[in-house]
Amino acid sequence: MCGITSYVGPRDAASVVLDGLTRLEYRGYDSAGIVSFDAGTTTTLKRAGKLANLQSAMAEQHLPGHRAVGHTRWATHGRPTNENAHPHVSEDGRLALVHNGIIENHAELRNRLEALGHVFTSETDSETLVHLIEEHDEGDLLTAVQEALKQVEGAYALVVAHAEGEGIVVARATSPLVIGLGDGEQFIASDVSALLPYTDRVVYLSDGEVAVVNETAVTLYGPDGAERSLDVDVIDWDADAADKGGWPHYMLKEIYEQPTVLQNTLAERFNEAGDDVTLDLTLDPATFDRIVVVAAGTASYAGMVGEAFLERLARIPCEVQVASEFRYAEPILDERTLVVAVSQSGETIDTLEAVREAKRAGAKTLAILNVRGSSIAREVDDILYIHAGPEIGVASTKAYLAMLAAFALLAVWVGRTRGALDAERAKAWIEELRTAPARVEEVLQRRPAVQDAVPLLDDARGVLYLGRGVNVASAFEGALKLKEITYLHAEAYPTGEMKHGPIALIDAATPVVALAPEGRLHAKTLSNLQEVRARDGRVLAIASDGDEAIASHADVILTVPRTSELLSPMLLAVPMQLLAYETAVRLGRDVDQPRNLAKSVTVE
Ligand code: M6R
Repeated sequence: MCGITSYVGPRDAASVVLDGLTRLEYRGYDSAGIVSFDAGTTTTLKRAGKLANLQSAMAEQHLPGHRAVGHTRWATHGRPTNENAHPHVSEDGRLALVHNGIIENHAELRNRLEALGHVFTSETDSETLVHLIEEHDEGDLLTAVQEALKQVEGAYALVVAHAEGEGIVVARATSPLVIGLGDGEQFIASDVSALLPYTDRVVYLSDGEVAVVNETAVTLYGPDGAERSLDVDVIDWDADAADKGGWPHYMLKEIYEQPTVLQNTLAERFNEAGDDVTLDLTLDPATFDRIVVVAAGTASYAGMVGEAFLERLARIPCEVQVASEFRYAEPILDERTLVVAVSQSGETIDTLEAVREAKRAGAKTLAILNVRGSSIAREVDDILYIHAGPEIGVASTKAYLAMLAAFALLAVWVGRTRGALDAERAKAWIEELRTAPARVEEVLQRRPAVQDAVPLLDDARGVLYLGRGVNVASAFEGALKLKEITYLHAEAYPTGEMKHGPIALIDAATPVVALAPEGRLHAKTLSNLQEVRARDGRVLAIASDGDEAIASHADVILTVPRTSELLSPMLLAVPMQLLAYETAVRLGRDVDQPRNLAKSVTVE
C-alpha cells in the first residue's frame, strides 16, 4: 500500500521518480507527490487524486535537481487531500520524507512534538516522522533518523533527505523497501517493478536496517547501528513484463498471459517418468501430519482449492484460515503442523503476521509466492515460487491460476513422499495438469461468448455465485472478482446451501452465476438451478463442453473444455475473470485501479 520511488544520480531526478510512480500507481492512487533537492533548496509538488494530476502539475512546474523522493498514497490516516499527500516537509522546508506503513504511537508523538513548538499541517501519522527527525537533527541526517526511529512504534518504509548534503536516508520496519543499484546512480522503491527499466541489481532492506544512499555508494547499517555488507540480488523479471504492451488494461493482459504463466509454474517440475514432481524444497513431508493454509482474498480462495488437492491426492488433513483472523484465533499449531502462506506480493501484512504466529508456535512454514525477495520470502522455512511475473492489475488473475498449479504440484509432492498417492494416479493427474495451459488458451478464445453474456447482469441488484465441491472456492473467487472491479454486490454460496437462506434473494434482478461442470455433483446442481428458475431467477451457467442437459436450466451458457473435477477450477476461473472484466468495462469502471483498493495490503 502506497508506492515509493526515489532517485539520486546524474539524471533529471524528478522525471525518473515520476516514471517510477507510474509503475507503482497500483499500490495506491488517491494522491501523489514529489520533492526534489537542488543546490541547497527543495521544491515540492503534491496533488490529490490520481497520478495524472501530479503529472499535469509537473508539466507546468519543473522540479529541478539530481535527488528526488516521490510517493503515491493509499489513505489510512487522513483523507486524500493535497495536505495529506506525501512528501511531508519540515517547517523550514529543508527536510522532506515519504512513508509507507502506520506509525502506531503517532498521537502520543504528535502531542509531544506540538508541545515543543512543532506545527503540523496534515492529519497523517507520517508527518510525525518529519518533525521527530527534525527534532534530532544536529547536522547528521543518518544519526537523526536512527535516533528518531528509536521512539517510533509501528511499520515503516521511510525515505528522507535534507536540502544540505548529497544523499538519501532510507529505513525499513515491516513495510518493504528496495534499493536499485546503478552505475553512478541509485534508485529506491517500495517494490521492484518500479526499478525494472533501470537496473536488475537490487538490495532488499531487512527490518531494522537503515541505509545512506549516494550517487556512488550505498552504506547499510543494522539495527545495532553497525555497518553491514550489501547482499545484492538480481531480478529475473524483464522490464516489458510490467508494461501494458498495447492491452487496454493490465487485467486483460494478465488474463491472457495465463497459459504462459501456467507453463512457467509447471516447467521443470516433473520427473522424467512423469509420475512425480521435483520441487526444490528442503521440508520433509514425513515431519508434518497436518497443513494449515493462511492467505487473504484471492490467495485464500486458491488455498481452498489447494485444500481439496491436498486432501484428495495426498490424504493429509488441511484447512484454510483467513490470515487477518489467524493470529487472534488462538490457532492450534505444533511442530508437526505445516503452515502454508500463500501470497502474490509476499507483502500482505496479515499473511506475514500469520507466518510469524506459526513460527512462534513452532510450526514449519512454507510460502507459495510470486515476488522474490518479498517480506514473506524472508521469513519462511521454504518457498514454492509460482513464476507468474509482475501482476499489476489490482484484481488478481494470473497469480490465482499459478497458485492453483503450485498447489497441484505440492499435493503430488506430499502425496508421493508420504506414500498416499501411487505412481499411476500421480501420472494421470500430472498428465491432466500438463493440459491446463492449452485448455485455458481454449477458454480464452471464447471471450466473445462472455461478451454476449454481459447484458444478463444489466440492472442486477446483486449476483449470486454458486458452486459445489472444489468449485465452492471458485464461486468465492468469481464473486470477489466481480465486486472488486464492478462494485456490484456479489455473494458466493455452496449451491446446496442456497435453499437454506440465500434463495430468498432470488428474483429477476438477482442473477445467478452457476458453476456446473460435469462430475458427480452435476445432477444435484441442475436440480438447484431449477429451484432458481422457478422463482424467476436468471441463470448464467458455466458448464462443460457437450453438456446437453444444461440448456433447459440456464438462460445463458458459457462452456469450458471437459476436465476432471479437480482441474475444473483452473478453467472455470477464466470466464468468471472475463465476465467481471467485461462488466466493469461496460459500466465504465476503472478496471486496473478500482476505488478504495490497493494491490498489496501492507497495513492491518
Ligand atoms: O498479494 P497477496 O496475494 O497476498 O494479496 C492478497 C489479497 O489482497 C488479494 O488477493 C486481493 O484479494 C485481490 N485484490 C483480489 O483480486
